Amino acid sequence: MVVRISVREATPNDLEQVSALIARLKMLNEELDPHYKVVEGLQEIAKEYVEEKIKSEKSRVIVAVNEQTGEIAGVLVYDIVDRRFYMPRIKAVITEFYVLPRYRRKRIGTLLLEKAEELARADGAGMLTVIYPSGNTLADAFYKAKGFIDLAYEKYRSLL
Ligand SMILES: CC(C)(COP(=O)(O)OP(=O)(O)OC[C@H]1O[C@@H](n2cnc3c(N)ncnc32)[C@H](O)[C@@H]1OP(=O)(O)O)[C@@H](O)C(=O)NCCC(=O)NCCS
Repeated sequence: MVVRISVREATPNDLEQVSALIARLKMLNEELDPHYKVVEGLQEIAKEYVEEKIKSEKSRVIVAVNEQTGEIAGVLVYDIVDRRFYMPRIKAVITEFYVLPRYRRKRIGTLLLEKAEELARADGAGMLTVIYPSGNTLADAFYKAKGFIDLAYEKYRSLL
């Protein structure tokens, strides 16, 4: 069956579903790399986080909704950041991006990204960036297909 999807900004009514998706993304990150071990109380923290992001003028929470069932199939969150020293000054940084496994490879990620690009331009952003754990091959494949290129490396050394 063809799934009809609409894409829009999230509202406080979407809090439960969106925060569940964000929690799933964090658990996926933990599976991919133990350095992303999730905290206790993940679901509650995800809810607080999404509530903040929906309210913030510096962020946008975009959802893809299954029109037949009302289920939220995917979410993308970005923050608007002033690069201050560099041109273009304003960038949009994708901080969360998750499509439920059963909805993948149906262009829902593409629709979310296109909406993010449209809104980010309207927010004054001249570039769109993303950081995700190395080892996420799904993200590698998606961003490569969308023409994203390497911009920076994040290195780490444990202090524990
Ligand atoms: C990354 C993600 C959001 C993509 O969502 P999606 O709805 O499946 O993406 P699309 O269907 O729009 O894919 C667009 C293109 O990306 C590429 N792509 C996406 N998933 C791919 C995969 N598993 N293998 C190879 N290429 C892939 C393909 O070129 C695809 O086009 P095609 O299906 O016509 O070949 C989704 O895989 C996901 O939620 N992954 C887990 C979380 C994650 O990795 N988030 C990103 C880190 S911030």
